Amino acid sequence: MKKTALYIVGLVGLTLIPASVATHVGSVYMPEGCGSCHVGHGMSNEPMLSASQEDACYQCHGSVDKKSVMIASGRLSPAVSLADIEAEFDKLYHHPVENSGEHSPDERLPSFSKSQMAHAECVDCHNPHQRVHDGVNSVARVTGYSLSGQYLEEASQEYEICLKCHSEVIGGRSDADMRTQFSPVVTSMHPVTRPSSGKGQVSLTSYSQGRTTMNCSDCHRSEDPSGPRGPHGSMYKFMLSGNYSVEAEADESPLAYQFCYSCHERNSILGNESFPLHREHIVGDPFKGIPGTSCYTCHASHSSERNLFLVRFNREAVSKTQPDNRMEFRSLGAKSGECYLMCHGKSHDPARY
Ligand code: HEC
Ligand code: HEC
Ligand code: HEC
Ligand code: HEC
Ligand code: HEC
Ligand code: HEC
Ligand code: HEC
Repeated sequence: MKKTALYIVGLVGLTLIPASVATHVGSVYMPEGCGSCHVGHGMSNEPMLSASQEDACYQCHGSVDKKSVMIASGRLSPAVSLADIEAEFDKLYHHPVENSGEHSPDERLPSFSKSQMAHAECVDCHNPHQRVHDGVNSVARVTGYSLSGQYLEEASQEYEICLKCHSEVIGGRSDADMRTQFSPVVTSMHPVTRPSSGKGQVSLTSYSQGRTTMNCSDCHRSEDPSGPRGPHGSMYKFMLSGNYSVEAEADESPLAYQFCYSCHERNSILGNESFPLHREHIVGDPFKGIPGTSCYTCHASHSSERNLFLVRFNREAVSKTQPDNRMEFRSLGAKSGECYLMCHGKSHDPARY
């Protein structure tokens, strides 16, 4: 084992792993250093991991049983407590790390080849040789893309890593192009790529009060608030931290919009503290048989290209006015605006508040 470590260290010069940077290996919790992950005598381009891809990581970032094997073999210190990341990937909605064989250490994403299956491996987002946490985040030093489409050898923002896969080139889905959705020139956005005004919204819970920026992984992460950070997996659709019903007709409940309510107080929203017609729309009128509708009917989750307050109408719930063909929101200043559209057979032409 010692010999292996030395042999690989011999390659360090060639593969340019800077000694000055604190690595996984430099961790006092990995007694075998390089040998905690690498085994045997490798060819210079073969990583020689003791297990393939994510399974190599699960040895220490998986179940208690897996960790005990590593502890027993002296490759992991019993003094450290590591979260079970494998359990996150077992959830219904997760990054497909189990798809095998598509990642290569020197690939350059996004891949323009559609025959290359879309994939996501641990090492697409984490550099196993670099500092594991720099005090800000633990995704430092992997490749990425800037908002302007520039390839980056080392991403410095979390979203830059996401952009190398979630931009138009893969699969050609322009509706899911995050580079467009998070372009800093949109009219309103959840503050990922540009800070919010800092004024705050009346509804914000203590969780997000005072924060002017957020990460993609504040929303796309484990549904367990005390679970590991990171967009690994969730039991909820879109890999969200909570349930989010997006149906045009939906019964309001704390669970239906749990996701939004985790940062925007339910009492504030239903108490009409901002939009005076929130309650009427979200709850509907059960006595008159008028159904409620989802936040998704009026709000985009990422950004709105043209409107303030993330207003964007869901075309499955709302249609254009006739004969003028308008579907429009206009803000008229503080807590005042108007809408032109058709909804549940009712014409807003316009409806004002
Ligand atoms: C946390 C586990 C881990 C530790 C510790 C570790 N490596 Fe690696 N190493 C990996 C993984 C995973 C890959 C494959 C990376 C990929 O596929 O992109 C790899 C790849 C390599 C490669 C192949 C070339 C490359 O960069 O992809 C070399 C050489 C290497 N490691 C050397 C070392 C040396 C030397 C050390 C000790 C200083 C070390 N590794 C410590 C996990 C580790
Ligand atoms: C031999 C055990 C071992 C293996 C295998 C291993 N890790 Fe780790 N990992 C650790 C330890 C120990 C730490 C904590 C280091 C410290 O705090 O000093 C850690 C920390 C991390 C962190 C930072 C966690 C945080 O709190 O910010 C990430 C991310 C990570 N590992 C990813 C990976 C990935 C990806 C792989 C597979 C390529 C992998 N690890 C393989 C032992 C391992
Ligand atoms: C190496 C490529 C890659 C990277 C990097 C990447 N993803 Fe993904 N992502 C994927 C693939 C592949 C899927 C599965 C797509 C599918 O099943 O259609 C996915 C799915 C998702 C989904 C679920 C979408 C849905 O419709 O349910 C979300 C949310 C997501 N990724 C967020 C992120 C975030 C946030 C980041 C950055 C921290 C990121 N991704 C980085 C490849 C990547
Ligand atoms: C992780 C926390 C978080 C979650 C979850 C969240 N938001 Fe937000 N939201 C924020 C923050 C932070 C702001 C920016 C507040 C500010 O202006 O300072 C914001 C702002 C907004 C705004 C006002 C935007 C503007 O430009 O004025 C709307 C509308 C909004 N959110 C709707 C939603 C909806 C709908 C959901 C559920 C789909 C949701 N939010 C989920 C944190 C969150
Ligand atoms: C405020 C919370 C929030 C933030 C921040 C956020 N998302 Fe999302 N995201 C959502 C919600 C809610 C959905 C599902 C509903 C929708 O599509 O509007 C979603 C959907 C997605 C999807 C699936 C889209 C599709 O059409 O299938 C992907 C991929 C994604 N997000 C990636 C990202 C990336 C990458 C970032 C950061 C650049 C990010 N998200 C930031 C809340 C968020
Ligand atoms: C799509 C990108 C992506 C993929 C794929 C991914 N991670 Fe992460 N991971 C992240 C992000 C982002 C964070 C949060 C970083 C932060 O905020 O510190 C994170 C956090 C972590 C942490 C620290 C969690 C904590 O709170 O203790 C560990 C450990 C980790 N990842 C391991 C893994 C392993 C192992 C795999 C593969 C089985 C993996 N990750 C796959 C993006 C990813
Ligand atoms: C019928 C359309 C509609 C629905 C449905 C709707 N909203 Fe709104 N929302 C608006 C409008 C319009 C505004 C802007 C009000 C103004 O002019 O200040 C707004 C403003 C907001 C704001 C910013 C001000 C604040 O309160 O902090 C948040 C956050 C918000 N909505 C969250 C939600 C959530 C969460 C849901 C679902 C539970 C939801 N909205 C459902 C139309 C809607």
